[in-house]
Amino acid sequence: MIHKQLTTIDVSTLNTNGDTMCFHYTDPFGQPAHGFVIRFEDQLYAYRNLCPHWGVALDHDEQFLDDTGQEIMCQMHGATFDPTTGACTFGPPEGSRLEAFVLQEVPDEPHLRMVLRAGGITL
Ligand code: FES
Repeated sequence: MIHKQLTTIDVSTLNTNGDTMCFHYTDPFGQPAHGFVIRFEDQLYAYRNLCPHWGVALDHDEQFLDDTGQEIMCQMHGATFDPTTGACTFGPPEGSRLEAFVLQEVPDEPHLRMVLRAGGITL
């Protein structure tokens, strides 16, 4: 499968469960877009910061997890998403999922990850 590199990020500050970091990239149509990386259960996950319900940013002041710290929550209508898969677990966009990105280690740079989009285009 072909992957397109969106950006490279420094993940050295993502050490605790629930730590998140936002990043910017350019979408396939040359428009600015936003993503985020979250550490959850000792793994890093990356998603586009876009709710599949109304197409708005998920976070409020870069806060992505709900009060339980177990699910990503959309600030607009409270939909929740599994941090490990991006699948909607509750709310209006149930049955859909967040657009997930691949994080790939950079050789000899342990704190860097390339953010990759798997083949195909998702808007
Ligand atoms: S915009 Fe996210 S749940 Fe409605």
